[in-house]
Amino acid sequence: MTAPNVLALILLSSGAAALPPLRLRSDGSFTIVQIADVHTGEGEGSWGPKVDNKTYSVLADLLRIEHPDLAVLTGDMITGLNVDANATVYWDRLVGVFDRAGVPHTAILGNHDAEPFSGSGKNQSSPGAKTNRTRLIQHDQRLRMSHTQLGPSSLQPAVSVYVVDVLPSQGQSGSRPALQLVHLDSGGGGMPEELSTEQVVWFNDTMRARRSKWGDVPTLVFVHIPLWEYQDALNGGDQCFGDADDGITPTISNTGLFAALEAAPEVMAVFVGHDHCNDFCCKWGSQTHKVDLCFGHHSGYGGYDCPSAYDHGSRVITFQQNQRPQLITHVRMVNASITHPGILKY
Ligand SMILES: *[C@@H]1O[C@H](CO)[C@@H](O)[C@H](O)[C@H]1NC(C)=O
Ligand SMILES: *[C@@H]1O[C@H](CO)[C@@H](O)[C@H](O)[C@H]1NC(C)=O
Ligand SMILES: *[C@@H]1O[C@H](CO)[C@@H](O)[C@H](O)[C@H]1NC(C)=O
Ligand SMILES: *[C@@H]1O[C@H](CO)[C@@H](O)[C@H](O)[C@H]1NC(C)=O
Ligand SMILES: *[C@@H]1O[C@H](CO)[C@@H](O)[C@H](O)[C@H]1NC(C)=O
Ligand SMILES: *[C@@H]1O[C@H](CO)[C@@H](O)[C@H](O)[C@H]1NC(C)=O
Repeated sequence: MTAPNVLALILLSSGAAALPPLRLRSDGSFTIVQIADVHTGEGEGSWGPKVDNKTYSVLADLLRIEHPDLAVLTGDMITGLNVDANATVYWDRLVGVFDRAGVPHTAILGNHDAEPFSGSGKNQSSPGAKTNRTRLIQHDQRLRMSHTQLGPSSLQPAVSVYVVDVLPSQGQSGSRPALQLVHLDSGGGGMPEELSTEQVVWFNDTMRARRSKWGDVPTLVFVHIPLWEYQDALNGGDQCFGDADDGITPTISNTGLFAALEAAPEVMAVFVGHDHCNDFCCKWGSQTHKVDLCFGHHSGYGGYDCPSAYDHGSRVITFQQNQRPQLITHVRMVNASITHPGILKY
């Protein structure tokens, strides 16, 4: 066996299994960047590889400035309609930006990631369609720095449904997570744009089981399409900050996810994308438990754009473990300035 082959073997055998668990830093913090709606893929008007290169470049800058512990890709990473068989090529180009910076990631699917090819009545469930939602998540799962998981098969066609744990900082003992990151699938493509009732039941069951084992572990929820309650929160919520320069287009039906979140005392906040020109946060819920409902910020150059004053950038979320945990958040713009800073207290 020649030397390069030995090297290849070593590289292969130190693959995904070597990925260490996520942990708080020694100061009890954990920083996430939310990557929203970058829509990479083949060209379509002002979209395509040329603007994608700008996207990769500003994301690399973001990672250099923020040094996050995790990137959460909250959907519409690719415009599946335009890429079909090449979906994973574009997926890998995007993920490569995070890999090169040594930043692990998780992903959920948006309504565009696994669209049908050509739009002529096909969808990813149609016979002959080349990409499907399951395969995209399975693909991501195998990547070197991925913490993505494939959800239970009973929830399909929803596939990006899972919890990722952030453990206490190095040196602290115990397997009780310090932070739980819940990922949900709001569909699209050949799947209705909804959070199925089965997912809400799964959320209830999963949280109940974890609660009985570990008590209330602070929890963040990531989903692509906004819940219905975002509109209520914008109209009548508390402590709103950020921009509302876009409509709010929620899931097609309200299956009671918010009611489940409100009833789960450990849930701190929800982060969505989908409506590119919103980046507000508002508190919404009962007197006893309010949840922060936040949008990300359009992180890249693909996909529809916003009023000219609204440049690209990404939401940054720092969890801080305290007597009462808090979230410190801002949007890091592509020119490195910070907008809409806020502290979400519980
Ligand atoms: C994008 O960047 C890559 C790598 O630098 C380069 O090879 C490619 O030609 C660029 N594509 C476009 C359309 O500019
Ligand atoms: C996309 O797929 C086609 C057909 O398999 C191939 O010819 C083309 O080079 C691919 N494009 C990219 C960017 O990988
Ligand atoms: C999607 O891909 C998975 C994994 O390859 C396969 O088992 C499943 O049948 C596919 N589903 C559809 C609807 O094509
Ligand atoms: C997608 O295609 C499958 C198979 O042809 C069909 O059963 C399903 O109704 C289609 N879904 C949508 C949303 O059109
Ligand atoms: C989830 O749990 C909450 C609190 O127990 C309950 O009100 C709600 O009905 C449950 N949702 C579903 C879909 O079972
Ligand atoms: C950076 O971008 C923001 C938002 O687009 C803008 O308000 C600000 O003036 C810019 N700052 C600099 C130094 O260009």
